Amino acid sequence: MELLRRMEARARDRLPEAVYDYFAGGAGDEVTLAENEEAWRHVWLRPRQLTGVSDADPSITLLGHDLALPVLLAPAAAQRLLHPDGEVAAARAAAAAGTIFCLSTRATADLAEVAEVAGPRWFQLYMHPDRDRVARMLLRAAEHGYDQVVMTIDLPVAGRRERELRHGLIPMPEGVAVATHLGQDEPEFEGGPGSPATGPAAPPPREKPAVGGWAALTWEDVGWVAEASGLPVVVKGVLTAQDAELAVQGGASAIVVSNHGARQVDGCVPTAVALR
Ligand code: LAC
Repeated sequence: MELLRRMEARARDRLPEAVYDYFAGGAGDEVTLAENEEAWRHVWLRPRQLTGVSDADPSITLLGHDLALPVLLAPAAAQRLLHPDGEVAAARAAAAAGTIFCLSTRATADLAEVAEVAGPRWFQLYMHPDRDRVARMLLRAAEHGYDQVVMTIDLPVAGRRERELRHGLIPMPEGVAVATHLGQDEPEFEGGPGSPATGPAAPPPREKPAVGGWAALTWEDVGWVAEASGLPVVVKGVLTAQDAELAVQGGASAIVVSNHGARQVDGCVPTAVALR
């Protein structure tokens, strides 16, 4: 933890404040943001002894992939705000570590550019009312070797992130833009789902985009995503056992227990508590 604290302090020193706050912040009063970390502190290990561990092996098989360790890289938007190499560097690092890289719909690198350096790879999906466009994006991901769609289900509307509201639009560095993932000269998704009102390259906080199809999503749309992409779908953002059951009934290949890093609903259950 000491190392992580020092890395965090370095990031705060080096990054523009609005960028640091975008990545470090949470929704509302950031109660769940603090509780997320606190809750992990209360998950205790019960070490078993004398089991002969000279050949310890942390590798696992996960959804068809042999991973060197049971840790993978979660989707995170706009990584070129943090470093010029952004998602490409993160994907390369995941491959070197023998694990999965999950690319965000809101990435600042195209899915083909990332596929060139990535090992096993998944594609995180924000839905959009333009379903044809979503389908084209998903098919292109499948063509480039992304073999699971990670469908985020906890963003019917953008979370109320007060740090972001304070800063407003984050200026993107020269040459950096949110990818369309369509491999041609199409403008990025404008407004609507997958384009939170705040955050990088989004409209200023008070011009909230119409939410349209994203807020209208239901469990049935999990099946649509599977069909449109031809890929299995991991449902990300489950916080209750009831929703875990509905996800499975809806055809999910797996679930990700997550409260979106406390960026969506303040006051909701901490991840480590929900996981139990
Ligand atoms: C966020 C979205 C983009 O949390 O996932 O900012």
